[in-house]
Amino acid sequence: MELSVLWGLSVALLICPLYMGVGVLCEVTCNEERMGMEGGSYTLTKKLEYGSIMIYHCPEGYYPHPALTRSCLKSGTWKPPPKRRPPQQCKMIECPNPLVLESGSVLPVQSQYFVNNKTTYECYSGYSLRGSASRVCQVNGKWSGGTPICSRDSGSEDRCADPGIPAGARRSGSSFGIDDILSYRCDDSLHLLGSKTRVCQESGQWTGTEPQCYYKHTYDTALEVTEAFGSAIRESLQMAAPVDDTDQEGKKITIDKGGKLNMYIAMDISDSIAETDFNSSRNAVKKLITKVSSFSVSPNYEIIFFASDVLEVVNIIDFSGDKRKPLEKVLTDLDNFKYDARDNVGTNLNLAFKTILERMAIQKLRNKMLFMEIHHVLIFFTDGAYNMGGSPENTMDKIRDSVYMNNKTKREKYLDVYVFGVGSDIFDEDIMPLVTKRNGERHYFKLKNVIDLEKTFDDIIDESQVVGVCGLHKNYDDNTPSTIRQRYPWMARIDNMHEVGKASKCMGSLVTRRFILTAAHCFKFDDKADNIRIAMGENQVIKGASRIILHPDYNINGKKNDGINEFYDYDVALIQLKNDVDVSIHIRPICIPCTKETSGALRLVGEAITCKQQEQLLFTNPLEEVSFISYDKKEQMDQRSDAKLKLQDQLRDNCIEMAVNEVEGITPLNLKDIVTDNFLCTGGRQPTRDNVACKGDSGGAVFKDYDKHRTIQVGVISWGTKNLCPGGNSDIKQESSETSRDFHINLFKVVPFLKKYLGNDTEDYQPLEFLEN
Ligand SMILES: *[C@@H]1O[C@H](CO)[C@@H](O)[C@H](O)[C@H]1NC(C)=O
Ligand SMILES: *[C@@H]1O[C@H](CO)[C@@H](O)[C@H](O)[C@H]1NC(C)=O
Ligand SMILES: *[C@@H]1O[C@H](CO)[C@@H](O)[C@H](O)[C@H]1NC(C)=O
Ligand SMILES: *[C@@H]1O[C@H](CO)[C@@H](O)[C@H](O)[C@H]1NC(C)=O
Repeated sequence: MELSVLWGLSVALLICPLYMGVGVLCEVTCNEERMGMEGGSYTLTKKLEYGSIMIYHCPEGYYPHPALTRSCLKSGTWKPPPKRRPPQQCKMIECPNPLVLESGSVLPVQSQYFVNNKTTYECYSGYSLRGSASRVCQVNGKWSGGTPICSRDSGSEDRCADPGIPAGARRSGSSFGIDDILSYRCDDSLHLLGSKTRVCQESGQWTGTEPQCYYKHTYDTALEVTEAFGSAIRESLQMAAPVDDTDQEGKKITIDKGGKLNMYIAMDISDSIAETDFNSSRNAVKKLITKVSSFSVSPNYEIIFFASDVLEVVNIIDFSGDKRKPLEKVLTDLDNFKYDARDNVGTNLNLAFKTILERMAIQKLRNKMLFMEIHHVLIFFTDGAYNMGGSPENTMDKIRDSVYMNNKTKREKYLDVYVFGVGSDIFDEDIMPLVTKRNGERHYFKLKNVIDLEKTFDDIIDESQVVGVCGLHKNYDDNTPSTIRQRYPWMARIDNMHEVGKASKCMGSLVTRRFILTAAHCFKFDDKADNIRIAMGENQVIKGASRIILHPDYNINGKKNDGINEFYDYDVALIQLKNDVDVSIHIRPICIPCTKETSGALRLVGEAITCKQQEQLLFTNPLEEVSFISYDKKEQMDQRSDAKLKLQDQLRDNCIEMAVNEVEGITPLNLKDIVTDNFLCTGGRQPTRDNVACKGDSGGAVFKDYDKHRTIQVGVISWGTKNLCPGGNSDIKQESSETSRDFHINLFKVVPFLKKYLGNDTEDYQPLEFLEN
């Protein structure tokens, strides 16, 4: 560009960023001299240009003092300006003063407490201790455990329990009867997160959440955020989740509330100078929305990135009302979004809030009745710092007004504002007025970087509360045994110790907390349920089951008279366990066809969803990519194998044809009687090479992933034409030869069998809800 040549010739001291179509101003650069820090270092986001941020870094257990960051102003000076005293240095991280315990003693007594310093708590006689008896100062500037409290052993008429005094805080008020008010403040240089005042309610509970005193260098751990945000967001999502209701004729109907959840996600990218930083932010957003979708809700999204300007990636107006945008499309929009760091000179936090306010106004104008039913969730990621556009507080008030419609009490629950404070220097005081402050929920979190954020969102599904959500799993790809377990938490290995002869091995899949689905040919008729060993989860072995149920039409000798030694039609079986298994990240049922849970996973909502609709969605293409698990002998671990179902008539015919002559007795004439319509076919090298199943893989799930976080089983591995895995299991993921084929029972063809046992609501186990049609 001509301009750049011109400017390139000018004085080296002047650096002039070029903005398309905007008058170019030249500023003086900031100075790096004497900016170093004892015991640490710093990085600059934009060299010494205007808008650059100097971020100080200290070793673990230390924090930069007095400034965490400085920014380069137009005038070429730093804000805050460096001073000789106190000098910029790395100081040891402190935890807030623990000596605030009433009616007890704290040891040791120190003027300051640093990382790894341990304290112990004892109560005076007549008082007993609740909370932690010893606490350790952690690297995030918080004490481990919970606030210790010494409460009187007897004579207390109080309605509420003594809530104690959090470290670093002062409390006024010391009576705990109904309507008594306690108020808190934090020591100088600490700020309070949580409730400033709490009132004792008739229920014996204090209003609000326990206040905590944070230094500027105090952060939440990923685990803390996961727990607090996880429980808060679940509340929000449950309001929007489909519910069952009863209509006038007493019939159960499912009401889709999914379209009535709006999520506005705004990500501050003003610190993201490098593309990797931006990618991390983007990944965090992607993770968040895929996790949200695993709750079976599909909100409408507004997604913006902001710095000095607002960059709208997904506009909620484009698909509110009837036009729902599928998650895949939102993810693609995010992926396609091009980030240009040159746009970044400031942070206009207010403009981000204004954009959301405008989007709300348009929706309200279009359909006020609908707007009144919408639950709005705002999620901001920012360090709270802004250097243009003014404070967003006023705009936030307008957003509240817009949703509350003059009736806060009634409408407060329709708005949730979460702010994730992310960055090296977080401006808590500016952020706190923006978040929702409802009883018992935390809406503000402090994190050091966006990497932590991704982990946080990933961990949200850890929680065992999310039962009744089939096929949910983590999405790790790094192929270590433990992550494989979390990726395929429904996977079961079955050892069947026959009465005579040696044990046989099969695979199976957990389909409810009480049942494992596998192949019928894994059993002989005299096998006893008690002789089964099932390995699941992390080293969990279930010994013995209560019964083995083979498909009634399964008869391996059924075609002996036609010269077919082994006939595998209806090769499915259920193993009923003695007890329910506990659901965790390592153990969770997979989705199977024609259940309501599976409709949820496929995000098919409405009362009239049919089995056929699920089938059409899962078997959309002539060739459908599926996976199964195979044991890799060399790596000594389970691995995912991939294959393509040949579904279209001609493709399927070509696929099953390969059974002719490979299996004794199969001829072109009887082929379709042996490889019945109940079988799915994989294998071969066209159009791509499939993996083949090995002997011990029988009974395993043939599955498809949906939306990255849900897995649906469509088949059960039954038999194959060639044993390409000598010695039972293969050395590596075994590739198919040109003519090798595998056959799997299509679960859509055995639904009555599954429904009969899994859907039986008169038994002592929780039934699966199957679709009517
Ligand atoms: C507390 O931590 C500081 C810094 O690591 C250390 O110097 C001091 O000895 C510790 N005090 C106690 C009582 O452990
Ligand atoms: C960031 O993500 C984009 C799109 O996914 C990718 O093309 C690019 O290589 C990534 N950049 C870095 C530095 O990771
Ligand atoms: C707000 O809503 C509640 C509950 O529906 C109602 O009782 C109250 O009268 C409303 N207040 C106003 C000011 O409209
Ligand atoms: C459900 O279980 C009960 C009790 O075992 C049994 O009597 C009934 O026949 C079962 N129902 C179906 C549909 O199989």
